[in-house]
Amino acid sequence: MKKTIITLPGDGIGPEVTDVAVNVLKAACLPFDVEIETIERNFGGSGYDIDGVPVTKETLELCKKHKSVLLGAVGGPKWENLSSELRPEAALLALRRELGVYANLRPIRVHSALAGASALKEEIISGTDILIVRELTGGIYFGEPRFTVEENGDTFSVDTMKYSRNEVRRIARKAFEAAMLRSKKVCSVDKANVLESSRLWRNSVEEIGAEFPEVELTHMLVDNCAMQLIRNPKQFDVILTGNLFGDIISDEAAMLTGSIGMLPSASLGNGNGLYEPVHGSAPDIAGTGAANPLAAVASAALLCRYSLQLKEASEDIERAVQAVLNQGYRTEDIFRGRSGTKLVGTHEMGDKLIRNL
Ligand code: NAI
Ligand code: MG
Repeated sequence: MKKTIITLPGDGIGPEVTDVAVNVLKAACLPFDVEIETIERNFGGSGYDIDGVPVTKETLELCKKHKSVLLGAVGGPKWENLSSELRPEAALLALRRELGVYANLRPIRVHSALAGASALKEEIISGTDILIVRELTGGIYFGEPRFTVEENGDTFSVDTMKYSRNEVRRIARKAFEAAMLRSKKVCSVDKANVLESSRLWRNSVEEIGAEFPEVELTHMLVDNCAMQLIRNPKQFDVILTGNLFGDIISDEAAMLTGSIGMLPSASLGNGNGLYEPVHGSAPDIAGTGAANPLAAVASAALLCRYSLQLKEASEDIERAVQAVLNQGYRTEDIFRGRSGTKLVGTHEMGDKLIRNL
């Protein structure tokens, strides 16, 4: 059987890590008689440089047609001074919106082989296994109006934090469904003591919570959540939150695992799936062969699970990641010079993964 996926490597370290992820994905699917066909397109900075726009209409249509997209990363100083609609990040927002992928799932798992390598104490983080469910197509990143005006000799900029009841309901439902397959705990994170949109968030989540009596629902203010993630991360199972808070909290939670280079994400909605590492394009290490490909590889595992419905192949990839870490292979970002560990580059890590498959 042949399955087609779209790859959008982007720029910076995006192409390096996507290359490894695609190789691992192909190797993992082979034993299940699934041949992966990839169609690659320019995206973000590479889109702007080659096509003159961060993403073409044709690329967006192609992604909608094939429904599963593996993305690298975009952005960097080279494009920083472009207007906001030409910047690489504009491609990301357009793609998320076009695909209607409103649910961003970010698993945060502390690998036992790395628990001692975190900046935090091992006893605090070991065993941490959190799923952050972040709303991705609403909130302040999309709210209108947004503008900048000159007035009375000063400059004013406005962004709008906006959620509708139905937007909150559908993301809440995803979180409760995910919790049913885990430890049946949802912690909804908002800023209901200050924000109107958070009060709507909270009571819409309560409504959906009533449909899932087996799931324990708690609420937490975002500033407290930021603190609790460092103090006692094991208290969390599923964290449900909006676009802006989810962006910040998931990067914070990333540090529990030792490196942002370990973390995958899946964005789902309308039968579409967009899979990408949580990290950005890391311009500081692009082209050096030092990038950790494991986040991209773990994203490919999520693609296997949610878009290709190949649960076994997905678990094989996750086991291979576990295995290379247990064997002591480390890219620079997770290398702490401990005995029994060996520093490897992006592609060497890919080779080790494939050997373990
Ligand atoms: P970043 O995630 O690119 O890098 C932060 C730090 O983590 C850097 O020191 C980098 O070297 C390191 N790092 C990131 N991924 C790594 C990996 N796989 N292996 C080893 N080290 C890794 O975030 P930053 O520096 O804030 O943003 C750089 C550019 O990326 C910006 O233009 C930003 O807008 C863009 N960005 C794009 C995202 C995306 O494509 N989804 C997400 C976040 C940022
Ligand atoms: Mg972020």
